[in-house]
Amino acid sequence: MRTIEWHDGAVRMIDQRKLPHEYVEVEFIDYRQVALAIEEMYVRGAPAIGAAAAYGLALAAVHSKARSEAQLVADVKEAADVLRNTRPTASNLFWALDRMLGRMDDGTLEGIEQIQQALVVEAQALADEDVAVNKRMGTYGAELIEDGYNILTHCNAGALATVDYGTALAPIRTAWKQGMRVHVFVDETRPRLQGARLTAWELMREGIPMTLIVDNAAGHFIQAGEVDIVFVGADRVVANGDVANKIGTYKLAVVAKENGVPFYPVVPTSTIDLAIDSGEGIPIEERDPHEVTHVCGQPIAPEGVRVANPAFDVTPHRYVSGIVTEHGIVYPPFRKGLCSVVEGRRP
Ligand code: MRU
Repeated sequence: MRTIEWHDGAVRMIDQRKLPHEYVEVEFIDYRQVALAIEEMYVRGAPAIGAAAAYGLALAAVHSKARSEAQLVADVKEAADVLRNTRPTASNLFWALDRMLGRMDDGTLEGIEQIQQALVVEAQALADEDVAVNKRMGTYGAELIEDGYNILTHCNAGALATVDYGTALAPIRTAWKQGMRVHVFVDETRPRLQGARLTAWELMREGIPMTLIVDNAAGHFIQAGEVDIVFVGADRVVANGDVANKIGTYKLAVVAKENGVPFYPVVPTSTIDLAIDSGEGIPIEERDPHEVTHVCGQPIAPEGVRVANPAFDVTPHRYVSGIVTEHGIVYPPFRKGLCSVVEGRRP
C-alpha cells in the first residue's frame, strides 16, 4: 500500500479522514490543494506529510505558467512558503521542502523543463527512500522484540503515516514476518482517533493480533505487567533526545518508566532536528476546538465550552530508553549518537 504517489502529473493520496469505513483516493494537481490536504489531515504522520510537501512542490513546478526560469524558481519558492505554513510540529515537512529547494538551487539545472523534471524525480526519490528507511528501522527495531511480546503503540505511526511500512509499526511488521508471535495494544488516540481508525485497520488487514484500548487504559495494562515494550513514532526529535509526538505520548512514557517498561520512539533521521537543543524549543500545533467538542460530527460537550487542543506533547529524554533510526539504535546520552545518525553513520 502506498499512502501517497505521483500519478501522471498529479499527486494521488488516500483520504485518511474516511478510513476505516471508506477507502477513498483523491488526486490533486494544484499544490494549494495539497497544502489544504495536509492541514485537514487527508494525509498525516510526519514522514507522509514530508512526502506530500515534496510532491506539492513538484506540482507547483510542473503546473507553473512561468515563461522564464527566474519566474519558475519564484513560483516554486512561493509554493514552499504555503506548504511550510500547514503543520508546525513535523520536522519532516521542513526537511522535505529544504531538500527540494536545495535540489532546485544546486547549480546543475538549466531551463524550465530541466527544473520541472528534476523536482518530480527528487520527490519520487524522497518517497522511495522513505520506504527503504522504514524497512531498515524495522530490522533494527525487531531486535528489541522477543517471541510472545505484548507491544503498546500510540496514534498511527504505520504505513499510513509514511509512504509505506511505517515507523513504530515497522519493527512489529518485521518481527511478525520473521515468525514471532506478537500482540499489539493500540491506544485509540483522542481526539482524531488515529489508533482506533488507522492503526487498527492496518494491523487487522495484515492479521497481526491486536487489542484496541482507550487511551486511559494504557497505564492499567502497563501496571498489570501486560506490556513488554512501547513503540511510538515522533514528529520531531531534538538534539538532547527530547521527543515530540502525538498528545498523550508523554503520559505513556512516564508510566512506562515507572513500571520498568522500555519506551522506544522509532524515528527516521528526517525527523531529527539538531538545530533545536531541547524540547522547549519545539513548536506545538494547536488544532481546532471542534476536534475535542465533537465525535464523528456529534457534539459531546456544552456549546461554547472553553477548549485547549494541543496536537502534540514533548517527552523529556530521561523517559526514552533508546531511539530506533535507519542507521541503528541510539542510546542515552543521546547527543553524540543523534549527530552520528544524522550524518549517516552508525550511532
Ligand atoms: O496528527 P498526526 O496524525 O499527523 O500525528 C501523527 C503522529 O503523532 C505520529 O506518531 C508521528 O507523526 C510519527 S508518524 C510515523
